[in-house]
Amino acid sequence: MNAIVTGATGGIGKAITEVFAKNGINVWACASRKNETFENEIKQLADDNNVWIKPVYFSLTDENDVKNGVKSILNEKMPIDILVNNAGVSPRSLLVMTPIDEIRKVMEINFTAQMLVTQLVAKKMMRQKSGNIVNVSSVSGSLYPEQGGLAYGCSKAALSFSSRVLARELADYNIRVNTVSPGFVETSMWTGRSEAYLQEAKSRSVMKRMGKPEEIANVVFFLTTPAASYITGTNIDLEGGGRVAFPQKEE
Ligand SMILES: NC(=O)c1ccc[n+]([C@@H]2O[C@H](COP(=O)([O-])OP(=O)(O)OC[C@H]3O[C@@H](n4cnc5c(N)ncnc54)[C@H](OP(=O)(O)O)[C@@H]3O)[C@@H](O)[C@H]2O)c1
Repeated sequence: MNAIVTGATGGIGKAITEVFAKNGINVWACASRKNETFENEIKQLADDNNVWIKPVYFSLTDENDVKNGVKSILNEKMPIDILVNNAGVSPRSLLVMTPIDEIRKVMEINFTAQMLVTQLVAKKMMRQKSGNIVNVSSVSGSLYPEQGGLAYGCSKAALSFSSRVLARELADYNIRVNTVSPGFVETSMWTGRSEAYLQEAKSRSVMKRMGKPEEIANVVFFLTTPAASYITGTNIDLEGGGRVAFPQKEE
């Protein structure tokens, strides 16, 4: 089995690459910036698990770059069994403080360019008459409208909704399309937030902790297996039970 994982150098993408490799799945590990540390890590991971993992670099901000990157994969003429649209950015700012081009850029990276990747890969999967697509969205695009989270939340809402539409468009070709929506996961996405913010966020969560990247990756992997053969067009929230409702306790 062969998989494309975008955002493979980030916390969750790296964990997805790892769980795939450990389960015998080869990976085209995609990111925008060449990363030698990552290349050394995936070489070791591939050797340890007797699979191949190839770095592929293209930026989701540039349509030609995306097309060339995906075409370089298609040109290898190998089956593509799995696509995980995991790359993403999460800038925050209030609408009135945000240049409209910033919103366009977030939509481009988190949604539009991912639809271009999906379109190119889905055509191949349709010819194969098989495939699995998993979109990594966020609970910020569904459950929790947050101040400053307009561009991110709307881009993720669009990505999640795309899974429901594409499940219907692709079911006849034996292609399943699903979404996972993480909550609050230990990755560099939270770098820069104060310790006080992180503690507060943990204390407001049902499980009183952040998720680990592998806890997201394991569910992504599950969705691509025959064990999930009757699941398509659905979303799984991965947020350890969610945020506690106010008030937390009767005084
Ligand atoms: N961490 C959380 O708490 C959390 C919660 C909910 C949802 N998510 C979602 O989970 C996914 C992974 O998040 P993460 O926490 O693992 O983030 P991360 O550690 O910041 O990694 C982000 C990944 O996306 C890639 N990326 C960013 N901009 C790109 C671009 N223009 N073109 C191509 N690739 C690009 C990065 O590669 P380069 O550095 O090479 O650009 C990197 O591999 C994201 O979609 C995020 O929205 C995360």
